[in-house]
Formats: sequence, structure tokens, C-alpha cells
Amino acid sequence: MGGSIHIEMRGLTRAYASRGKARPVLEGVDATIRHGEFIVLVGRSGSGKSTLLNLIGGLDRPSAGEVLLDGESLGRLSEDQLSRMRRRKLGYLFQFFNLVPTLTAVENLLLPLELIGVEGGPARERAARWLSAVGLDDRGPDYPDELSGGEQQRVALARALIHEPGLLLADEPTGNLDLATARDVLRLLDGLCRRSGTTLIMATHSPEVIGLADRVLTIRDGGLHVADEAS
Ligand SMILES: Nc1ncnc2c1ncn2[C@@H]1O[C@H](COP(=O)(O)OP(=O)(O)OP(=O)(O)O)[C@@H](O)[C@H]1O
Ligand SMILES: [Mg+2]
Repeated sequence: MGGSIHIEMRGLTRAYASRGKARPVLEGVDATIRHGEFIVLVGRSGSGKSTLLNLIGGLDRPSAGEVLLDGESLGRLSEDQLSRMRRRKLGYLFQFFNLVPTLTAVENLLLPLELIGVEGGPARERAARWLSAVGLDDRGPDYPDELSGGEQQRVALARALIHEPGLLLADEPTGNLDLATARDVLRLLDGLCRRSGTTLIMATHSPEVIGLADRVLTIRDGGLHVADEAS
């Protein structure tokens, strides 16, 4: 397995220009997330959850401050180094599944492997193993639009983990599923990450998730707070 990732945020700040003025979303966030932790990120809509996930995942650059993954500052990496790091060490899961519609389920799983040079028999074998791990053994040849929402999200989960990342970033991964399906996907997600020791950060509005997490962090007024403070 890829080994879990330790995250350090130092003075992390992100502001957006709005009508000629800089409007801060995150301001001076200092936080540490330990190897293998399952962190739930909550906060009202617009508080900056997606912004924070994008900064940690190197999809966006901070206005000030830095993110360190296993001691390495993302700001010091070139675009090339950053994308290599992302392909090898990070997995992403989104609300709307984001599978490639013109590829079958199994072909969607082969993509992240191809990006790290795993191809042919070993890649197909790994894809089959992951389809099975998410309970979709015989659905490999199906296209995304032939799968239910929950099934698509399970394929997306397998795709997010198939290259054995040390960190999985999930942005409201159950936001588009009914309660029972959401619960199934969550259990699966939690179980797979714990088994591989993958650090997991999940933004969510769903109270269901909170019981599964090691820690709940709340974004409020641009800062990150441990949720059991008065809110
Ligand atoms: N590209 C952008 N340009 C300008 N403002 C942005 C941009 N992206 C996000 N914002 C603003 O930053 C704030 C935080 O947005 P973000 O998407 O991080 O919130 P969120 O907590 O994920 O909300 P939700 O729960 O609705 O997904 C919002 O006020 C949003 O309008
Ligand atoms: Mg969001």
C-alpha cells in the first residue's frame, strides 16, 4: 500500500478578488492532520470546505501560507512535480462522481493506473480486484449511464483508491445519494481507507458521517476549529 500522508497547514490563507476587493475565505489556518486519520470537514455552505480541499490537494494555490504533505511544501513544487505527486499520492472523490462517460467502468479504473505506468495484465487484474472490493464484480463492461448513482460512486471510489494513494480527498461524496445508499458508500469508504491506512478528509453536510470520523473540523469565520467547541 502507498502509506498514509501527514498534512501540515501553516498560516494558510485564500482570498478571492471580488469587485476589485480581496475577500478572504480562509485566513491564517494552522492545523495538522496525522497519518491515517479520518477527518470530517464541516461548515455552512460557502465557508470554504472545497477551497481548503483544493489547497491541500494542490488543485489551487494559497494567497499566503503553505501546505506541507509529508514535510514537503507544495508551493516549492513546479507544476510538473505537483501533477506527478498528485497522480501518485492523492485520490479525489466528488459529489457528481465525475466518471468519464465514454469509458466503461473498468476503463475508468485503468486510467489512473496508466498515468503511473501500470498497464496490461497487471492493470486489468488490479481493476478487477477493485471492482470486486466495491461489490461490482460483473459491472466492468458497463458505461456510467448504465449504472445507478450509488454504483457510479462506488466505481469512482475504486478509481480514487486503485493507485493506492496516501491521501483521499472527498468533497461531499454522498451529497447526491439517497440516505441508504449514502450509508453504504460511507461504510465502504471508511473500511477501505482504514484497511489501507489512507488519510481521509471528507467535506460533508451529512451528520451520518460524524460518528465514523476520528476528528471533526469546522470552518467558521475563515478559521478551522475542532467541532466540539461551542458552535
Ligand atoms: N473561483 C472563485 N472565485 C471567487 N470566489 C470563489 C471562487 N471559488 C469559491 N469562491 C468563494 O469562496 C467561498 C467558499 O467557497 P467554497 O466552495 O470553498 O465553499 P464550501 O464550504 O465548499 O460550500 P458548499 O458547502 O456550498 O460546497 C464562497 O463564498 C465562494 O463564493
Ligand atoms: Mg463545497
